[in-house]
Amino acid sequence: MHAHFFIFIVALTSLASALTVDRRGAPKSYAALGDSYSAGIGAGNFTRGSADGRDNPCARTNGAYPFVLAKSLGLLSNGSAGNLKGEWEDFYSCAGDRLHQLDAQVKDLKSKKVDLITLSISGNDFLFGDVISACVFPYGLNDPEYYEQVCNQKLADSTNAIQNTTFWNSFLTKVDLLATNHLTKGGKLIITGYPRFFAPDAVEGDACDETYFLDNAFGRKLKMTLETRREMNKGVEEVNRRIESDIVARLMVKGVSFIDVDALYQGHRFCEPEKSANPKGSDPQDDTIWFNDINTELEEKAHWFMPPDFKEEDEGTPQDKIVQEADCGDMIAQVDDVVGDEKPEVESNEPGELISSLLGKFLPSDWEKYSVFHPKKAANFAVAEAIQAAIIQAQIDRQALLRSRISLWIFEQSWHRLTQLQQSISFVCDLYSSQMGKIYDMITSNHLQLF
Ligand SMILES: *[C@@H]1O[C@H](CO)[C@@H](O)[C@H](O)[C@H]1NC(C)=O
Ligand SMILES: *[C@@H]1O[C@H](CO)[C@@H](O)[C@H](O)[C@H]1NC(C)=O
Ligand SMILES: *[C@@H]1O[C@H](CO)[C@@H](O)[C@H](O)[C@H]1NC(C)=O
Repeated sequence: MHAHFFIFIVALTSLASALTVDRRGAPKSYAALGDSYSAGIGAGNFTRGSADGRDNPCARTNGAYPFVLAKSLGLLSNGSAGNLKGEWEDFYSCAGDRLHQLDAQVKDLKSKKVDLITLSISGNDFLFGDVISACVFPYGLNDPEYYEQVCNQKLADSTNAIQNTTFWNSFLTKVDLLATNHLTKGGKLIITGYPRFFAPDAVEGDACDETYFLDNAFGRKLKMTLETRREMNKGVEEVNRRIESDIVARLMVKGVSFIDVDALYQGHRFCEPEKSANPKGSDPQDDTIWFNDINTELEEKAHWFMPPDFKEEDEGTPQDKIVQEADCGDMIAQVDDVVGDEKPEVESNEPGELISSLLGKFLPSDWEKYSVFHPKKAANFAVAEAIQAAIIQAQIDRQALLRSRISLWIFEQSWHRLTQLQQSISFVCDLYSSQMGKIYDMITSNHLQLF
């Protein structure tokens, strides 16, 4: 009887502690690493509380999905008065960072282990920014065919970079080390992929086919043709596919998983067929298109201090080169043609000054330029929600696993005890019957003796 009671108590205690673990399963510590897609460039105001003090140079904003998620998980710090200070120190993502620069972010983590890490990286290695500059926002003055060549060359360079096996091996090693050294037991590392920029179901001859994304006269060089859009989407698709197959699938046992952000963007990309009246969705209030355009009015007005190491390996964007290479005399003549009535008042006749004054007039600030083709606040919100849903699902799975383990344990224990009990009963029975036999024998022998 005692044995049964003991099993019952043990079972109840285990079940209770399992349920407690579940309720406490939400991540209590979280670090965000990666590039501009997780720094949240152009998605809100600059954050202030990151441990490395590089919020502005890294273009981290409070609309970035990691920040939104940290807030939702209750990880933002409280001020000394106990009121929400709204800062979070484990934000390491940095606009412009490439894979090798992830090492510096990891170093800033020091010996910290956290329950959750999110990571977005490799877009800069695959030259996404250069492709966007060359194919979507070409400016300066020259032969459109030359721009097309530059765009095609950048697309080819990007495709080649995506095929680089050495790169993928290095990516794998870095994520493996990050998960091994910086996750707590049972912790999760979630890699967020990249969204395709353009509606995949668009058709030839749609509104975008005849549209320039840089829409002042000075910049109208390349139309946003379906072919270019398809090529750009293909690059993103291939990167997501390889992150899943070459990185995540191999590191699942270490708690690494993938969130397909692209799937969330359904109906929210540039050039959606049903948005033909405004395929660029420049209006920041227009949450139906989730990317910033060059005319999107950004929330943050402060100056962005580009980090000194920003794009350190580049010898300039294609535009810089084109502008440098262009013949200035020819340029001024063309500006006269193109600008027409919009011709700005230029005091000096110095070609250099004319060009920079024109660039100043027609091109937005660096902050705006580098925010193009980056997710708006609404998109970051959706990504944060998807990650939280994945965490909750993982908790539910864990709970189910624990429950089934506990039931199995109870079953095994009961079975074991039952078997023992059976054995004891049969032992007592055997003993009893053998003793009874002896007593009977005794009685009968005595009886025989007596009677
Ligand atoms: C960003 O800063 C501006 C100006 O200070 C403010 O009006 C706005 O509410 C801020 N937005 C967020 C999301 O913090
Ligand atoms: C901040 O204060 C709130 C309310 O007292 C509390 O629930 C929360 O856990 C605190 N957050 C941190 C990070 O200390
Ligand atoms: C491939 O990637 C490796 C590691 O990132 C790099 O060192 C190498 O230069 C790349 N090779 C090519 C051909 O781009």
